[in-house]
Amino acid sequence: GVSSKVPHFATLYDLNPAQINTLVKTAIRYKNEVKVQGKKPTHLLPGSSVALLFSKRSTRTRVATETASNLLGAKAMYLASTDIQLGVNESLQDTTRVLSSMVDCIVARVNSHQEIEDLVKYSSVPVINALSDKFHPTQILADLMTLHETYTPQGKDPQSLNLQDTLGGRKVAWVGDGNNVLYSLMITLPKFGVDVGVSTPKGYDPRADIVQMAQGEAKKYNTKMDIVNSTAEAIKDSDVIVTDTWISMGQEEEKADRLRAFSGYQVTQKMIAEGGAKSDWKFLHCLPRKSEEVDDDVFYSNRSLVFPEAENRKWTIMAVLDALLVHKKFPEN
Ligand code: CP
Ligand code: NVA
Repeated sequence: GVSSKVPHFATLYDLNPAQINTLVKTAIRYKNEVKVQGKKPTHLLPGSSVALLFSKRSTRTRVATETASNLLGAKAMYLASTDIQLGVNESLQDTTRVLSSMVDCIVARVNSHQEIEDLVKYSSVPVINALSDKFHPTQILADLMTLHETYTPQGKDPQSLNLQDTLGGRKVAWVGDGNNVLYSLMITLPKFGVDVGVSTPKGYDPRADIVQMAQGEAKKYNTKMDIVNSTAEAIKDSDVIVTDTWISMGQEEEKADRLRAFSGYQVTQKMIAEGGAKSDWKFLHCLPRKSEEVDDDVFYSNRSLVFPEAENRKWTIMAVLDALLVHKKFPEN
């Protein structure tokens, strides 16, 4: 396509561990510079424009991208699909070619992942996947950052350690729907030596093509990728328990069926204790959250990392903008 030399961020599958380490450490550096030192590095992208092409709702991803853009001196433009010609009067190809002739980056939240691939094909500027039906890579960067901060030993600088140092040998358990957030975790965690246990209700299991990719990564990095039949089996010996909504955006009409099928999948203290998680287990959820998938006792407990995780969306997206627009590539250190 027109864009073969332009770097994109469609999926973490395409990045190596060194590149992901750089993104997370850059995010931690920006968090420190902005929050602790009070800096606003607006000199980095003055006059740049970032288009947010969103065909689904968003709180975190939108605000993270807009505020990160502001801090870097770039202007963000929110283009909801209901406000622009795309889908009604204009094709994705034409919209992409026009947008990318004017802006410096397209951040897109889409339905089918094919739309991200089409954007990558037709855009002359970097494209960032802000959620597709297959992957949510910017979310998983924030999850990795949050775990890296959490598991950095007292007195050590998280920027002096790699994700392999803080996460290697740990186990992450997923209890819930086979969805985009799970898929991104499955194809990313092996890169850092993390074992994965997955329990989904019958009929809501992870897609076969993703399982194949994830098992390939697990083999490559010598980790476990266990798709199991019970929530207890997934939770056994885990350090981190993760879930997400049972009803992703676009699945609203399946609500009744899903609530029935997911009975017994609500994450609770009892489920975690009976499953045999590590005694110092932690909990992650990308948000937005409903109490059906995790009760208040877990969600608001001191084991829950969900609010730092949400905040870290901002610092990690800032790091992605830094890579794509300042460095124009994903640096390895
Ligand atoms: N976690 C996440 O992507 O949230 P939003 O849908 O609010 O952006
Ligand atoms: N799985 C959810 C994630 C929302 C951030 C969805 O796709 O709606």
